Amino acid sequence: MPDDDRERSPIYRYLQALHARYAGLRDGQVATYIPELAKVDPDRFSICIATTDGNVYEVGDSRHPFTIQSISKPLTYGLALGDRGLDEVQSRIGVEPTGDAFNSISLEPGSGRPLNPMINAGAIAAASLVSGRSQDDKVARLLAVYSMYAGRPLAIDNDVFESERASGHRNRAIGHMLRNFDIVDDPEPALDLYFRQCSIAIDCRDLSLMAATLANGGVHPVSGERALDAVHVDRVLSVMTTCGLYDAAGEWVFRVGMPAKSGVGGGILVVLPGQLGIGVYSPRLDPHGNSVRGLEVCRDLSRELDLHFLRSARSARSVFRARYSTAEVRSKRRRPESERSVLSDAGQGVRVYELQGDLFFPSIEALIAEIVRRGDDLAIAVLDFKRVSAVGPAAARILFELMTSMNERGQLLIFASCERQGRLLRFLDEERVESGASWRLIALPDLDGAIEWCENELIAATHGVAHAPTIALADNDLCRGLDAAALDVLAPLLTHRRFAARETIFRQGDPAEALFLLASGQVTIAMTSPHGAPKRLSTLSAGMSFGELALVIGGLRSADVVATTAVDCWELDRAAFDRLGASQPQVKIALLQNMLRSAHEIVARLSREVTALAA
Ligand code: DON
Repeated sequence: MPDDDRERSPIYRYLQALHARYAGLRDGQVATYIPELAKVDPDRFSICIATTDGNVYEVGDSRHPFTIQSISKPLTYGLALGDRGLDEVQSRIGVEPTGDAFNSISLEPGSGRPLNPMINAGAIAAASLVSGRSQDDKVARLLAVYSMYAGRPLAIDNDVFESERASGHRNRAIGHMLRNFDIVDDPEPALDLYFRQCSIAIDCRDLSLMAATLANGGVHPVSGERALDAVHVDRVLSVMTTCGLYDAAGEWVFRVGMPAKSGVGGGILVVLPGQLGIGVYSPRLDPHGNSVRGLEVCRDLSRELDLHFLRSARSARSVFRARYSTAEVRSKRRRPESERSVLSDAGQGVRVYELQGDLFFPSIEALIAEIVRRGDDLAIAVLDFKRVSAVGPAAARILFELMTSMNERGQLLIFASCERQGRLLRFLDEERVESGASWRLIALPDLDGAIEWCENELIAATHGVAHAPTIALADNDLCRGLDAAALDVLAPLLTHRRFAARETIFRQGDPAEALFLLASGQVTIAMTSPHGAPKRLSTLSAGMSFGELALVIGGLRSADVVATTAVDCWELDRAAFDRLGASQPQVKIALLQNMLRSAHEIVARLSREVTALAA
């Protein structure tokens, strides 16, 4: 993510704050039982989040290399499942948590089967199941698969490998125990591959993308490469959930609640299935061999961003029901050409996001990333909540941060259809007051009204505040192209009418006995929805006409027309229209042509909008 975009993102700013919160924490010790690991800089620290859409947020030492260590175990377990199939792998490795340390010799009584693939015994067994024509071929295949998880070529840190191999006596003992129970044929090649996999150099960004690959069903979110068959993803995530943090797994699921794997190199890989991956790196470890800062960061992320998988599973990745600009989809207010051209240009800068489902961190992240990506091209973002069922506290918090950061850049974030989001609006308003933020909380009853509000803002910004004009008969849309003679014929047939604001001009079902040409003011055309609520179909202003189609086809009124403001207009009733046809057919034809032209414009605009809404 480009630097400037990063600074705009409330998510990036949140991660920076979280990093700062634990940067001073110096509890724990770096691993020293592998001598090379004792040389690492204990203060290195990074937090990275990668989404299944390919958005990556990284703070701290995100490109500093360290060795993957036990985080390699789920990847090799997945590879073994792919190479040998579930039955053979299960015949040699169980899936039960041990409650013991990572290097415990936890073998099943009788069979000698390691209890799970996350402890060293199970991992060594898994390494023995990786296929290959030779040891080098196995190493190359394993490295290739790990590189697919990371989305870039990875390499082995030979200093660590040598150090691990030289000091790996306990693992060697485990290897020979496995040989004793015929779990592995020859422990040496299995141990060699295991030591090499643990010594692969990665960085924290890689870790988050590896996690996002697992979250994305085995496919890397950026490269699109498949690192693991979909059928094995759940199996790998299941053992990570129950066994990934060894004898701290229970506490982990309770407090963080996501499949994860830690390593003595100081990394923790965390997966929120279907949504995102997290990588944390800090080499100081607790007695269980888990990164101290890493655990704290993951607990806070889970709590503050609602990431516990038993809570966040409902949030649909497709938070967007529709997204478009107001250049593509207009309000129901019909506007004169002078205003329409303003909206065609400036409307690109107003983006409408019809949201849906539950808004938790993963879904709000997609919205933030979209808005940040728009950069300075975005003037106003409209969020429509009509189909939003719930807004989590983390999402509310991030929306607040977004309003503040957008406001700092002179951008507006406005809300629509929030009748069921009272709590959210109260939270935003209270936070606004408490923080002394200068932005206005703009929430409009419905999306159409919100789009019209934006349009008025754009037009006012271009033309200055629009004063309600009075449009002469000659300039009315229905009189387009009529010369003075034709107007002289038409004018005497018209009746001048005045309607007060909110006065009904005609109702749905009334016989259509006249058409109306608007001189000044606005009228709203509405129908009563099945729920009894008035549904605005259109708002017309001076220079437009209404009621003409029903008059021409001789039907009943298809909707109510109500004066939105005080209205001045001309009425052409049926008798006069028929007289016009009899005496001046070319004038009537000109009127009919103008009716067809504006009907065509409406159909063309609606087709564009349907296309934009379907996009
Ligand atoms: O085998 C070992 O001891 C190391 N290569 C890996 C151990 C490890 O990462 C444990 N995780 N917390």
